[in-house]
Amino acid sequence: QTIYRKDYTAPSYLVDTVELGFDLDPARTIVANRMTMQRNPDSSRRDIELYGEDIELVTIRLNGKTLDEGAYAIEGSILRIPDAPDSVTLEIETICVPESNTTLSGLYVSNGNFYTQCEAEGFRRITYFPDRPDVMAKYMVMLRADKEKFPVLLSNGNLVEEGELPDGRHYAKWEDPFKKPSYLFALVAARLVCQEEQFPLADGRTALLQVWVEEGNLDKTDYAMQSLKHSIRWDEERWDLELDLDRFMIVAVGDFNMGAMENKGLNIFNTKFVLANPRVATDIDFQGIEAVVGHEYFHNWTGNRVTCRDWFQLSLKEGLTVFRDQEFSADMIGTDTGRAVTRIDQVRTLRQAQFPEDAGPMAHPVRPDSFVEINNFYTVTVYEKGAEVVRMYQTLLGREGFRKGMDLYFARHDGQAVTCDDFRMAMADANGRDLTQFERWYSQAGTPIVQAETRYDEAARTYELRLIQTCPATPGQPEKLPFHIPVAVGLLGKDGRDLPLVIDGQPKGSTAVLELTEADQTFVFSDVPEQPTPSILRDFSAPVILKHGYSDAELVHLFNHDSDPVNRWEAGQRLAMARLLKLASDIALKNPAADAPNASARTAVLEQMNLDEVFVQAMRAILVDESLDPAFREQALLLPTESMIADQMDVVDPLAIHMARQFVRADIGVRLRAELLAQYQANETPGEYSPDAASIGKRALKNLALSYLCAAPDAESLALAERQFDEATNMTDRAAALGALVHGRAPVAPDALQRFYDEFQSEALVVDKWFMMQATAPTTDVATVRELMKHPAFTLRNPNRARSLVAAFCTGNAVQFHAPDGSGYAFWAEQVIALDALNPQVASRLARAMDRWRRYSPALQEHMKKALQQVAGQGKLSNDVREVVSKALAN
Ligand code: ARG
Ligand code: ZN
Repeated sequence: QTIYRKDYTAPSYLVDTVELGFDLDPARTIVANRMTMQRNPDSSRRDIELYGEDIELVTIRLNGKTLDEGAYAIEGSILRIPDAPDSVTLEIETICVPESNTTLSGLYVSNGNFYTQCEAEGFRRITYFPDRPDVMAKYMVMLRADKEKFPVLLSNGNLVEEGELPDGRHYAKWEDPFKKPSYLFALVAARLVCQEEQFPLADGRTALLQVWVEEGNLDKTDYAMQSLKHSIRWDEERWDLELDLDRFMIVAVGDFNMGAMENKGLNIFNTKFVLANPRVATDIDFQGIEAVVGHEYFHNWTGNRVTCRDWFQLSLKEGLTVFRDQEFSADMIGTDTGRAVTRIDQVRTLRQAQFPEDAGPMAHPVRPDSFVEINNFYTVTVYEKGAEVVRMYQTLLGREGFRKGMDLYFARHDGQAVTCDDFRMAMADANGRDLTQFERWYSQAGTPIVQAETRYDEAARTYELRLIQTCPATPGQPEKLPFHIPVAVGLLGKDGRDLPLVIDGQPKGSTAVLELTEADQTFVFSDVPEQPTPSILRDFSAPVILKHGYSDAELVHLFNHDSDPVNRWEAGQRLAMARLLKLASDIALKNPAADAPNASARTAVLEQMNLDEVFVQAMRAILVDESLDPAFREQALLLPTESMIADQMDVVDPLAIHMARQFVRADIGVRLRAELLAQYQANETPGEYSPDAASIGKRALKNLALSYLCAAPDAESLALAERQFDEATNMTDRAAALGALVHGRAPVAPDALQRFYDEFQSEALVVDKWFMMQATAPTTDVATVRELMKHPAFTLRNPNRARSLVAAFCTGNAVQFHAPDGSGYAFWAEQVIALDALNPQVASRLARAMDRWRRYSPALQEHMKKALQQVAGQGKLSNDVREVVSKALAN
């Protein structure tokens, strides 16, 4: 059943204090919960409403008296006590079975240890509680467990007492001094070890920082610890926000549904975002750790101190915290191009994942109006588009104005559970601005399209920029109103330099932030000495699709000169995309039987193709421009992904897209061979591995060069990859070489794959890479994936492992997944159903691989529909998967 935002009502009772007692036993954990509650003066209801799921109720006492069965009612997951007194103490005892909890929500066992995950609605799987974020209480937690098996007992806040118990058990008592919603509760009872240190805070206090991992992983905690310290410092320096606890803990767990969780003082992380050393982790892994450690730490203020009133407001904390972690990562690099490279990464993520979501059956506003299962709304829209919305405030108000808004937000709402509107009002009030229209970014789904038309009047020396905005219909929202869009614009002169901008007689520097608020609006620049080349949407100032009829010459001019690195990159993407689309459609046309594509006929087509010199020259110029950071050059040379190309086609032909992209890569590999080899050598990073931005950029460019070289079949290039694979002293170079071998047009490298596995079989995160690399190789078909699933290291029960093989195949191997016989879709249905019985959240993510099924040929659609119907027709299906497949079938 669907839950609507408009139906929000205040909780009938508020909780002041919660005392929890845990007798931890994997097979039978007893939870004693004593809470003091008051009737909420803001509610007219008199009943107490508690939620509970998959727990066995043993006793319930109200103000000291046991309630018999007539005194309360349990309907589904709601326990209701009618006509309660104004002030009550409830004592509830329940039993749960952590070892058979495969959902990884609530209290569960991973590799013999206890962990919790309560966001969004996991706390109700631990005890009966008003499990909603606007009920904030103080927690006191007593943990009891076997001392030998679970020597470490952790919960939120401060350790107040610990000691021995009879029968080899021990206890620890934790008190969290801050009121919090139940979704921020956490406990860990485990055999773990930690890296720790005392860290000085800005106000003179010190805090104990700890990173807890399984024994044997202490050689992989340094970077997480360092990232935590950087995060604390950055929050102090950039926002004046301090750590409010004496102790801050990070715990890594191998079985985890998402990336990590910001539980107060006790962040619990997927191992993927904690464990790293040069031998096992790539540059991307290191960057991911810094970003996620920062993200969870920053939640302490944006999420925990100020939390969400209800789950429709999720982006209040997630969009804002993603924005903060993005700014953190950019500041950690510190240089302008470094910042730009992180920005380009963000744009790629939006195009790769968020724009498709906005254009598919699961499209929803940043602040959704309804949902069936809240876990389905931890999406790129709520997170990444939400971060773009926050960024737009900063673009519109300036850095200082934005900071004033943040300060007012904390001054007003510290300790409260609030809404996205409250955040917007703080921004508006702190700056004396009317941000009414800006609200549409929260309420309207879909990616706006901004069409730009320009006109230069030589006699009047004026330049007109006409911007027309539209937004496609999305499920439930046929009509859209104009958005308030900041459009940052610069004008390039013939010499490639920025022209000084003047609007309405006002000088605007070299980049003007235009505020597009109407459906159709024209801006006039005056004193423009010559026909300029417009650089529109600099720094990607809004999450929109910009359309403008650029000529190749204009794009090359921007690619060579734009002072805005993001638009400089963008010009290259436009040049590449035009060619990729042309090639893909040529391939598709020459062999229109798209549902039974004949690869060899298509290859014959390719042999007559050629990349034009304009494009190759443009790529060459960037590749060899030593004045540009290697990190930027790598981004500029990276082609749009297959799924970005697919989004531009009326009917998606995965094989044609793949062949077109491979062709461009191979042709670049051949035509720029000498330059690529030179860059390969020039960007080696000898000596000790370091994950600093400059070294990461060099490795990225070097390894991109290698992959282009290996895209064309040439013995010398392959030898280069093989040598790199043999001699690499870090995982970045190791994995890149293996990838070039496995994904290049070379014969697959079974020997290298085997050696890689043998060397790293005891490193779970590297085994994930090993599965993923094979799952996404163009030569891996469904039958091969099924074989890999029989490998002793494979299990569907571990989310990282399931994602690295099954989900990686369904979302990262378009050609094979969309095999004309529908075998990929049948496999998908089978795996969604199997996973759903174990872990609905993971199953539901996999289910979304079929989101855009209506964009394929009629024959493929037939197969996809059948697979969707097969899943939808299952008798026993989670809300999670049911919501996703029924929306796909309906829209
Ligand atoms: N709040 C966490 C984060 O972004 C995500 C946890 C979501 N978990 C879930 N099962 N829905 O940082
Ligand atoms: Zn978050």
